Amino acid sequence: MRILTGIQPSGTPHIGNYFGAMRQIINIQDKGETFIFLADYHSLTTAPEPEQLRKNVLELTLNYLSCGVDPEKAILFRQSDVPQVCELTWILNNVTPVGLLERAHSYKDKIAKGFAPNNGLFSYPVLMASDILIYQSNLVPVGKDQKQHLEITRDIAIKFNNQYGEVFTIPEELIPEEVAIVPGTDGQKMSKSYNNTIPIFGKEKEIKKAIMNVVTDCKALEEPKDPDNCNVVALYKLVATPEELEEMKERYRAGGYGYGHAKLALFDKLWAYFEPMRKRRAELEQNLDYVWSVLAKGAEKAGAEAEKTMVKVRRAVGLR
Ligand code: TRP
Repeated sequence: MRILTGIQPSGTPHIGNYFGAMRQIINIQDKGETFIFLADYHSLTTAPEPEQLRKNVLELTLNYLSCGVDPEKAILFRQSDVPQVCELTWILNNVTPVGLLERAHSYKDKIAKGFAPNNGLFSYPVLMASDILIYQSNLVPVGKDQKQHLEITRDIAIKFNNQYGEVFTIPEELIPEEVAIVPGTDGQKMSKSYNNTIPIFGKEKEIKKAIMNVVTDCKALEEPKDPDNCNVVALYKLVATPEELEEMKERYRAGGYGYGHAKLALFDKLWAYFEPMRKRRAELEQNLDYVWSVLAKGAEKAGAEAEKTMVKVRRAVGLR
């Protein structure tokens, strides 16, 4: 089974990203032949600063390698290192009805947010279909927001196959049931746009400060507390063993245990949980040649697979 997913840079990773998307991608490496790429062509649709884009690709690679993407198991590469995907995009453009793209929510959302309605943004789903189809992917792990893009991909693949013969595998999306709900420091969903995040790779002081700011009710130290409606407990649950979680809940119910105590316990656990990843990241930062070599090897393997598909595609449509 071939699994493929693309990732767009989203700034400094926080523990919400980790327990949401990153962990899913890392866990899936054992389930089949996995391709993971950094979607830098897609990033161009919103015109990032060139230097920033280059930096984001490196940052994202460091983050994923530190958090557990294993280049021995998964093929990790940069999208633009396999330019055949743009060739395929052009070819697929010709079997893609404009109406299909006009219905895309993500396009409408981006326009509503004020992005320039350029053709790249409009045909974003065709490039995404090319990503998926060029590697003959069976399974595509994505967030809920990408479901429509997978439907568009299937429509395009089926249309192409009907018109030109069976070239493409028809892919399925894999949308996680309910990923762990990660509350931010204010109790809303943790998200960069709410300014309520706890970074994975922050300095000790910064992380401690974020945790001390987690919102709780204002029960006094001696009072019994409700562990099932507490942001501190919800975060602790992500990093503690079931026994440790139970112990904290008992203390809440018994009283004499303050939110400050719970926050310190949370900090200790969280800090220890991400310790190996921080270490790994520090090592990788000292060894960027290795990091670039991972991407180069990934591109070589991915490129060979893409070319195999393109030979069939060019022949099917009458090029070459
Ligand atoms: N659009 C995806 C996102 O924003 C990123 C992406 C690009 C992708 N190409 C892909 C995901 C191919 C899965 C497969 O999350």
